Amino acid sequence: MSSSEWNLRRLLNVSEAEIEGLADVLIDCVEGGASVSFMHPLTHERAAAFWRRIAKAVAAGERALLVAEDTGGICGTVQLTLDLPENQPHRADLSKMLVHRRARRQGLGAALMRAAEALALECGRTLLELDAVTGGDGERLYERLGWRRVGVVRNYALMPRGGFCSTTFMYRDLSTAIDASKTPGCQRSSKVIPCGHEK
Ligand SMILES: CC(C)(COP(=O)(O)OP(=O)(O)OC[C@H]1O[C@@H](n2cnc3c(N)ncnc32)[C@H](O)[C@@H]1OP(=O)(O)O)[C@@H](O)C(=O)NCCC(=O)NCCS
Repeated sequence: MSSSEWNLRRLLNVSEAEIEGLADVLIDCVEGGASVSFMHPLTHERAAAFWRRIAKAVAAGERALLVAEDTGGICGTVQLTLDLPENQPHRADLSKMLVHRRARRQGLGAALMRAAEALALECGRTLLELDAVTGGDGERLYERLGWRRVGVVRNYALMPRGGFCSTTFMYRDLSTAIDASKTPGCQRSSKVIPCGHEK
């Protein structure tokens, strides 16, 4: 496997080794200055505790979790929150889109987004929402992939080393999307393992 190849797969249960790998990715992103809910420095203990909570939600079918792996282990992840009010059965929230710095700018972010959209459709979710740091790498990626901007909330959150950042709220209506699995992002993946179904 060359450094620009990865496997994408859905985790239906998250092992302790996978929690460790996910914690490493989260810590690397915070270390790199990403505003993803955590302040710097993010200890391994806090990062692993976060992923253990996500693992419980995954096991309960409340969240769908995708990971990307390269020769160094887990190098990227994204998740969908499926546990929403009963009057929003067609919707999911997309969050914690994280790519380790070693794997960036090779198309993995785009591949994870396309895989998440395909997984959402498998789960019967056609309307997705997310929020992103205004003017950040994520916002640019999502816009390129067809996500629509709803608007910006000024000073919504803090950057990991302090200082406010604004947040852009975005959505994607998949009911009008064409077969997402045929996008360039997914073609660059070495393998996309079928995502399975919700319990
Ligand atoms: C945002 C993030 C997920 C993007 O991941 P990524 O894997 O780098 O995304 P991609 O590779 O698909 O695209 C990133 C850039 O690389 C470029 N690119 C893609 N493949 C490339 C290749 N083979 N060669 C050169 N450039 C390439 C893309 O055009 C894009 O360019 P741009 O930033 O100028 O628009 C990543 O930067 C990240 O994890 N950041 C920290 C956490 C974060 O902020 N998450 C978002 C929360 S909302």
